[in-house]
Amino acid sequence: MTETCVQTYATRPVTGIRGEITVPGDKSISHRSIMLGSIARGMTTVRGFLRGEDNIATLNAFRAMGVTIDDDGETLKIAGKGLHGLVEPFDVIDCGNSGTSIRLLTGLLAPQRFYTVLTGDRYLRRRPMRRVVEPLARMGATIFGREGGEKAPLTIVGRELSGISYDSPVSSAQVKSALMLAGLYAAGETRVTEPYLSRDHSERMFRHFGADVEVSPSGAVVRGGRELEGRDIVVPGDISSAAFFLVAGLIVPNAELLIRGVGINPTRTGILDILSAMGGSIELLDQREVSGEPVADILVRSSRLKGIEIAGDVVPRAIDEFPVICVAAALAEGRTVIREARELRVKETDRIAAMATNLRAAGVTVTETADGMEIDGRERLDGCTVESFGDHRIAMSMLVAGLVATGGVTVSDVACIGTSFPSFTRLVERICAG
Ligand code: S3P
Repeated sequence: MTETCVQTYATRPVTGIRGEITVPGDKSISHRSIMLGSIARGMTTVRGFLRGEDNIATLNAFRAMGVTIDDDGETLKIAGKGLHGLVEPFDVIDCGNSGTSIRLLTGLLAPQRFYTVLTGDRYLRRRPMRRVVEPLARMGATIFGREGGEKAPLTIVGRELSGISYDSPVSSAQVKSALMLAGLYAAGETRVTEPYLSRDHSERMFRHFGADVEVSPSGAVVRGGRELEGRDIVVPGDISSAAFFLVAGLIVPNAELLIRGVGINPTRTGILDILSAMGGSIELLDQREVSGEPVADILVRSSRLKGIEIAGDVVPRAIDEFPVICVAAALAEGRTVIREARELRVKETDRIAAMATNLRAAGVTVTETADGMEIDGRERLDGCTVESFGDHRIAMSMLVAGLVATGGVTVSDVACIGTSFPSFTRLVERICAG
């Protein structure tokens, strides 16, 4: 998959942005639609599925466990096998670069009646797994991994599980969802709380499929043993992909861009709150609901931005958008301070270190802190050549920066963009003038 990504791509300053775009389907919702569709009874159809490498890794995992999934290029049809219908895969499951695939699958596979091994690319094999392995072990799971269960490959020996009450020390939808998936099979109740609410797509989709789930602001409770029923799902556009175009629309002069059909689940709209607080002109139009998720068209126009402080409950609501928020901050008047965002250090790469390095190459003064960074905005960025660090969001963020950097920005190693947004560069080329 992304073991060797060597391609290079460059963006140059543009004179304006005009038009209308739609962004690909939501990555988190696409993963969950395959997982729940596979273990539900009957047929699930999914429209708007994101065909990025991460989601294809999840799709291949379920095919390897005996699930028939047809894709006519528009709609996925998943022939659900019921809670206990998956079969032992013939080989190791490769999750590629996808943290969501490996962590959620670990929860789903721990209570199966068979053995599995999960691995991933060299970036994923460096990421922490104990955050799911340890609470699952408390439920009775048997999971082995490198470094005492901290790193993939992970070996899962399926066992019967019992529900637990778990106060997660991190606000992580992957941890919460792994436990909720295990909880579908466990005896009794599985309860998960977190410091601040992380994205709640699992809670919404569990309800949609008829799971026995209760949701409150303090967390989720799943009662095990109830079969799920196949459903029709329409996946909204991914706000995390829209984010690159939101920032491009704000920082490029003469820009006016309409992004259609974007998911605006309140647990994901931290980016809108942050950019609006920075002075960005962002309007939500035609708000509606699709498959239990709120959706809108978003209109963005060039704006003068100012630096702000970012911390607290907005952090998990914008967790994947920090690389591109850093680009907005680099062009804002004054200082932007990001705190309580230590989780950024364990994403596809250490996103605090990666953005500090790359923005410094563009002439920006950045101070790294343990749990965030301080960025002093400037009028323009300097042209530079930077690395993606194998991280799709770092690559796309720096390509957005190139739209306003004297001389442009060249990013090496951009094949990783295919994990979440294969059409990104084509869309950039379509809307940019000059
Ligand atoms: C995701 C949860 C987040 C996010 C990731 C997708 C999910 O990770 O960064 O891109 O789909 O559950 P964490 O749970 O590690 O915060």
